Amino acid sequence: MNLPEGLADSFGRRIDYLRLSVTERCDLRCAYCHPGRHLDGDSADVLTADDVVAIADAAVRLGIRRIRLTGGEPLLRPDLEAIVARLRQLDGLTDLALTTNARALAQRARPLAEAGLDRVNISLDSLNPHAYAAMTGGGHLEPVLQGLDAALAAGLEPVKVNVVLAGAVSLKPPDLASFVTLVRRKPVHVRFIEAMPVCSQTTYLPAEGVLQQLSQFGVLAHAVAPEGGGPARYFRLDGSQGTLGVITPLSEPFCDRCNRLRVNARGDLLPCLFSPQGISLLPALRGDHPVRDLMALLQQGASAKPSRYGDVASCSGLVAMHVIGG
Ligand code: GTP
Ligand code: 5AD
Ligand code: SF4
Repeated sequence: MNLPEGLADSFGRRIDYLRLSVTERCDLRCAYCHPGRHLDGDSADVLTADDVVAIADAAVRLGIRRIRLTGGEPLLRPDLEAIVARLRQLDGLTDLALTTNARALAQRARPLAEAGLDRVNISLDSLNPHAYAAMTGGGHLEPVLQGLDAALAAGLEPVKVNVVLAGAVSLKPPDLASFVTLVRRKPVHVRFIEAMPVCSQTTYLPAEGVLQQLSQFGVLAHAVAPEGGGPARYFRLDGSQGTLGVITPLSEPFCDRCNRLRVNARGDLLPCLFSPQGISLLPALRGDHPVRDLMALLQQGASAKPSRYGDVASCSGLVAMHVIGG
């Protein structure tokens, strides 16, 4: 089969990565992701397994090579393994990944690997059980650590950990020391992420401060990025199995290298994470020629990508991150 090389946007960037959100439901309540929301119910899933597969199929026909399933919490979907197995059949897809809070990963890692998932990124903002509970609205740390180990055991590698710098907790030296210990002992890649001002949040902690603090643990040498297509920069401490990284959307934007489109949990195609409005894929999904129409909309979405998020006039229409998919 002769496969195209990828979608191009209006600025010459090659778009070969799709972040596809399969649910806006989540069983945690991190403040930066659910601003102003408490333990109220999230909406039922809009996209069926058939919808997810149809969107992915159209995207891969256009040259998308990497797909990341996001949420909300994708493990809340009991049909996730079935979705993964169907996506794995798509000719031309080279990287199928998942971003998860890992609460249920201990039980799901092996079935997901067997269904054809390549790798996981785990949201884990603190290795201190009390801080973790405070940041997540009551989450327990232990199952997450078991999920991380299960991911390694199932070969869902590289396993990456996301630490959003959303509060002082993440910057306290003991917290950093525990992440350093983690990458020394396990082949895990920990990325410190500047919290993005989705909805109302306005202040953020620059990742540069974390890098400075990390240098007290040894020399931070630039490291080759583990498999992936995202914006992180990686460093290695001598003798560590894993790496430490930063994702700097605010202090050092990476939009000039942007390679991605997003579909949120409501079935809207977002040209940029900060797009105030998406292009609804639902009419195409429910119409007579879904693949043809989805391909046209994906092309339209790529053409509508801004050169960077600063071009987006207003963030006021943005929905919360658990809907966008990160
Ligand atoms: P890989 O490198 O392929 O493993 O994926 P990734 O790091 O892009 O995915 P992940 O879902 O783990 O996202 C990590 C962090 O990067 C999250 O906070 C995302 O919101 C952020 N992020 C991912 N892609 C983009 C992007 O295109 N723009 C911005 N501003 N942030 C992004
Ligand atoms: N800023 C940066 N990262 C965020 N995430 C969720 N909300 C934000 C935010 N406001 C991260 C989650 C998850 C990934 C998909 O996005 O921690 O790991
Ligand atoms: Fe791409 Fe928008 Fe992210 Fe910039 S903020 S890297 S343009 S998705």
